[in-house]
Amino acid sequence: MPHPIPVSAAFSIRLATPADAPELACLRYEFRTTLDVPTEPADVFLARCTSWMSDRLRPAAAWRCWVAETPTALIGAVWLHFLEKIPNPVSEPEGHGYITNVYVRPDHRGSGVGGRLIAAALAECDRRALHSVILWPTPRSRTLYERHGFGVPRTLLERPPVGELHGHARSAV
Ligand SMILES: CC(C)(COP(=O)(O)OP(=O)(O)OC[C@H]1O[C@@H](n2cnc3c(N)ncnc32)[C@H](O)[C@@H]1OP(=O)(O)O)[C@@H](O)C(=O)NCCC(=O)NCCS
Repeated sequence: MPHPIPVSAAFSIRLATPADAPELACLRYEFRTTLDVPTEPADVFLARCTSWMSDRLRPAAAWRCWVAETPTALIGAVWLHFLEKIPNPVSEPEGHGYITNVYVRPDHRGSGVGGRLIAAALAECDRRALHSVILWPTPRSRTLYERHGFGVPRTLLERPPVGELHGHARSAV
């Protein structure tokens, strides 16, 4: 499980590799279990998530992940999924980006780590000339995304999860 890291440690950003999957799975568990009660034993989840991530971190996969790290541990990450569009005979871009699982460990928040991770993912979106980039913010993180150019959709329609249609709130992050 994640261990304490000095708050003042310097950090750097890099692309994740399959070798990062076990630590990234721990970050995912930490993130999600601060928002809700787990319904799956930690060891079962970590094995399942490590396998899933390891597969998606291969260079040929439709996912990329950037990590923020100190010399001793990962302190945050962002994931980007490339959504394919159907080939287009006109000059319209052929892909969208979906940013998800943006997470910085609590002791390292508020000093620009999250912003640097988002910037890394958006640089790749720009490099690939993706059409648009979507994400589901939490209320608290909206300002972070707004500072990076995100706004309320002008053209997108979202069908909410079925539970919400029946009055039960669910998060999408
Ligand atoms: C969102 C998050 C990655 C930002 O990381 P960070 O390193 O603190 O980011 P930065 O220092 O670059 O930017 C600070 C911004 O983060 C957001 N933020 C700060 N604390 C936050 C929190 N507890 N939860 C969510 N967002 C937060 C705010 O938008 C803040 O901007 P503000 O100063 O205008 O309020 C980090 O707070 C986090 O991991 N939160 C919990 C997980 C989460 O909510 N992820 C977003 C899901 S879409």
